[in-house]
Amino acid sequence: MSQIIQDIQPILACLRQGGIAAIPTETVYGLAGDATNTQAISQIYAIKQRPLDHPLIMHISKDTDIRQYAIDIPDYVDTLIKAFWPGPLTLVLRCNTALINPLVTAGQNTIALRCPQHPLAQEILRNLPFPLVAPSANPFGKVSPTSAQHVQASFPQENLLILDGGRCPIGIESTIVLATNSNGYRILRHGKVDSAHLSTIIPALELPPQTVGTLRVSGNLLTHYQPTKPLFYFTQLTEAISFCNQHPSTYVISAYPLSTFNTDQGVTLPADPKIWAYELYNQLRCADLSKAKHILITLPPEAPDWQGTRERIIKAGRYL
Ligand code: TXA
Ligand code: MG
Repeated sequence: MSQIIQDIQPILACLRQGGIAAIPTETVYGLAGDATNTQAISQIYAIKQRPLDHPLIMHISKDTDIRQYAIDIPDYVDTLIKAFWPGPLTLVLRCNTALINPLVTAGQNTIALRCPQHPLAQEILRNLPFPLVAPSANPFGKVSPTSAQHVQASFPQENLLILDGGRCPIGIESTIVLATNSNGYRILRHGKVDSAHLSTIIPALELPPQTVGTLRVSGNLLTHYQPTKPLFYFTQLTEAISFCNQHPSTYVISAYPLSTFNTDQGVTLPADPKIWAYELYNQLRCADLSKAKHILITLPPEAPDWQGTRERIIKAGRYL
């Protein structure tokens, strides 16, 4: 069984030896390994059962010069870095392929770079002579972990070292922005840094989303972030109530009181995007552990600050 520890030293030793360890970030826990070590990277793909064509995000410390890893960097990238790093924004840049292990990028000519804000993640990166790859610490396609205990439960067969940093304050993965085009950027995955915030920092540069195509972001898969039990989401309250009447064993996650649905299983979350992001994965895990047979979510409104949470719910569930 994996071990949850408070001391950073064994984590550093493990990573220096080419091992894998789970570490906290401000978004979700990551399964970290030396980004320059083929064996470490391969082990991460294997533990996660992640297809080899899904590239990993490379995590760097605060003072890293990104020009050693990326080339042809558009001018607006500096503005984004000044505004959001360290923080929950991942930048996909054209890659300096000579210096990046092709397993990190899945052989593509772009590299995803993230400078996390969590003090423990920064302390680890500062004390290592190499960057870390760190996908979310969950089996591929499943719910991401927002606590050390979630990581432990996600990999019951593994013997991982997990650094305990408490609950992740944001709760959903970083926003991913494709920044390879000097004419503008494209949001590949929504997160805490939303489209409205980005456009106040660099106005009029957002390019429209690409129709599902060649870019291999998990966000482009039709399903992801999935709990074990079937999850249904609704935009109409009357339809959600009628589903609960027909399926009494349902765990409800909603901004409406549970009594609305004639149930006492589930949670009422205040209509605040920060609280929904913080609670979403935790609640999906609670629902999986509950006696309920189904999970129901009433979908939050379509607005920039809800984009991250909505995207996760839509990918994880089915619309009825
Ligand atoms: O908040 C986060 O970003 C967390 C924490 C641990 O840092 N990490 C995370 O990693 O969410 P992961 O592997 O679960 O999701 C990374 C996403 C994947 O969907 C991957 O396909 C995409 O980033 N990605 C990585 N490199 C890419 C690239 N070069 N171009 C496009 N997408 C890329
Ligand atoms: Mg993930």
